[in-house]
Order: sequence, then C-alpha cells, then structure tokens
Amino acid sequence: MTESQNSRALRESADVIVLGAGPAGLVLGNLLHAAGIDCVLLERASRTHVQTRARAGFLAPNTGRILDRHGLADGLHRRGLRHGTCEFRTEDGRFRLDYGSLGQGGQQHHVYPQQNLVTDLLTHYLGRGGRIRFQTEALAVREADGTRPYVTTREPDGRPTRWSARYVAGCDGRHGAARRSLPPGAVRRHHDHGVTWLGLLAEAPPSLDAVGYAIHDRGFAGHMARTADVTRYYLQWQRGIPADAWPEQRIWDELDDRMRAADHGPLHRGTLLERGIFDLTCDVIEPLRHGSLFLAGDAASLLAPAAAKGTNLAVLEAELLAGALTDALTRGDTAGLDRYSDQCLAHIWRAQEFTGWMTRLLHTAPGGDQDAGSFFHAALRRSRLASLRTSRIHQEWFAENYVGV
Ligand code: APR
Repeated sequence: MTESQNSRALRESADVIVLGAGPAGLVLGNLLHAAGIDCVLLERASRTHVQTRARAGFLAPNTGRILDRHGLADGLHRRGLRHGTCEFRTEDGRFRLDYGSLGQGGQQHHVYPQQNLVTDLLTHYLGRGGRIRFQTEALAVREADGTRPYVTTREPDGRPTRWSARYVAGCDGRHGAARRSLPPGAVRRHHDHGVTWLGLLAEAPPSLDAVGYAIHDRGFAGHMARTADVTRYYLQWQRGIPADAWPEQRIWDELDDRMRAADHGPLHRGTLLERGIFDLTCDVIEPLRHGSLFLAGDAASLLAPAAAKGTNLAVLEAELLAGALTDALTRGDTAGLDRYSDQCLAHIWRAQEFTGWMTRLLHTAPGGDQDAGSFFHAALRRSRLASLRTSRIHQEWFAENYVGV
C-alpha cells in the first residue's frame, strides 16, 4: 500500500489479529475468544474453500487432548477413527508395527481429515460469536517492532484496509504475509530432502487396516486411510514431472507393484479425485517472535509430510500462544510471550529430526538405487528397517516419536 492509499484506507482494529484460518489460526481464535480476548481472523480464501481443502488427517494423542481441554473435540470423537498400526513392505517381506500398544502408555492416532477439523473449529468459533473476515488477504504486517503493529489488507471488494492491533499472530502458512513481513534479523533454516511425492486422493476404501509404507527399488509408495470411502496414496515421484503425466491405470499399476499387491493382496481401485506434487522440503524460522508478531503452524516451520507432524505442531503452538497472549492482555504478564519462541522451537526441532529420519527410511535416492553412493544409502536403509523389525527398544523409540509431538 502506498502512503496515499494508506491514508485513504479503512481503519479497523482488534487486540489480536490472527492471519489465516487453518488449524493454527482457528485453534488460536477459539481459545482467545473463549478467554474474552478481542480478536479477529483474517482469511484470504472463502469459507467453502477452507472447509473443503483436503490436507493432512492424522491427529496425535496430544492434539486430541488439547482439543478436549477446550471443548473442541466433539466431531473428532464422533467421526474420527482410532489408528495404531503401520505396516512396512520391503523386498524382505512385510512387518507390522503396533505402535499404539508400544511407547509410554500405548497411544494411538485419530484419523480425521483436516477439512473436518477445520469445519468443526470454524463452526464452534462462529457459533460463539467469533469474528472472522473471509476473502480478506493480508498484504503486510507493519511496525511489528513497536507496541502498535498493523496489518494492511485487501478486502473482498478490493478496498485497502488497515487493521491495528496490540499483537499479530501469523498463522497464514508458508506463503503468507507474516513470513513476508519478517525483519532482516529473522533466519530461515531450510533443507531439501531431495525427494518429491505425487499425492493422490482416491475415491476408494482403504486397502489395509494400517498405514502402509512400501519401500521399493523404484521408490516409496504410501497408503493412508482417510474415511471409509476415501484413501490417500503417495508415490515417490521424479521432480519436475507434472502430476498429470501418467494415466490412472499406470498409477494404479505402479502402486500395485510398489505395494507388492501380488504378495500381500490387491489395492481397492477407484477414481483419483485429486493429484498434487509435494517436494519434501522443510524449514524453520528463528526466532518465532518479532516484537508484537508471533508465528505459528506452517508459517513458523514447514515439515515434510512423511511423519504427519505439521497439523499437530500447529495445534500445540496455537494453544501455547493463546495462553501467552491471554496472560499478557488480561494480567499484563508477558513471561509466556517471552518464552513462546524457545518453547516451540524445542518441539519443532524434535519433530524435524524424526521427520528427517522417517524420510531417509522410506525413500530411495532420487535417481534410484543403482550407483555406488545410492547402493550405500539403500544398504543403510535395509539395516535400519531390520533393526525396526527386530529390536523392541527401537520399536518403542519409534512409537514414542511417531505419535508424540
Ligand atoms: N492473508 C490471509 N490469509 C492467508 C494469507 C494471507 N496473505 N496467506 C495464506 N492465508 C491462509 C490460507 O488460505 C490458509 O487458510 O492461511 C491459512 C493457513 O492455513 P494452513 O496452510 O492450513 O496452515 P496452518 O494453520 O499453519 O496448519 C498447518 O496444516 O495441512 C496442514 O501442511 C499443513 O500440517 C500443516 C498444518
């Protein structure tokens, strides 16, 4: 916004402005609103779009506990499925890991598609009178180093608006305005795992009663239940090849091969509803606080999807940030805000470490396992899998990290 546009801009305000209505922004909004904090959510997309966008679907036990604690888990308990087994398929056969009965106290995931969670959170927030503006794009966060930050937006009718606040929460994902507005001191630590996935959403019931991880010479294939009629599949994919390069038949044949359907039973085929390309890259912004601007969810850190940690971290961070903002605004106690970045970064780096380990476990080197370096990589992967198959301690460690956040 130029200076002259700025002076003509509409003016609005709230104590806390939350950018983005994904899991992070919606949990934060619900908790702040329940604590009586004056807040508003600004979301670029329409309500229909955020409620129908298919994303992740595995919620860790801690996420269930957070949602329970704040009365946000009704839908999850009504419609979510419990899940505690994964199956690895390799050249040496298959083995199942009942992680739900391992680790500390045996904990399971809930399988609950993210669009259902987002719909529940939104319904709850609006039902209690929470303020949200859809189709309102945040352009920039300004003066975050002071005590009166503001956000410039483009309203649905195109008019510029200036939203003033005491605090701004950047929950607007990897390409959001919060990240674009970081001061020069912010560091983005980036890593490319060098792997790409073709993500598929199939109109077909799950083919096994477990998460399926297939490790194959031609690359990884994954199977993840979503609902009784919809299943997610992933294929390790050559970077740069478009998602629609293969016809459906070829994709199903490749999934059959990599999942070793001939040995372990056929996959239920169905129409492919969606295809998407995911480069397995990750990053962490340090620190997560810049004056009055705080980052949470994908805006704070991006994780490769291999261990399904993104949504769970987003919810955890949102709860921490809600508590800290409430203390600051109701009691003038800013200790929680001072701690927020370090607290979250400890969780984030642990999740990044485990996700990196999973990523190395599941994939062939990008060019296949043929050359000498890749052979070394493949041998390490086999050894790691053998240890996971046979060592109880290794399985306990896996279970604790797989469900933990
Ligand atoms: N202004 C307003 N809203 C924006 C802007 C912007 N400039 N940019 C993005 N948004 C909105 C998006 O439309 C989206 O609804 O911010 C929201 C961010 O939501 P998510 O991407 O779901 O991110 P987050 O809430 O951090 O959840 C993280 O969900 O699907 C997973 O991979 C994701 O695991 C991660 C988790």
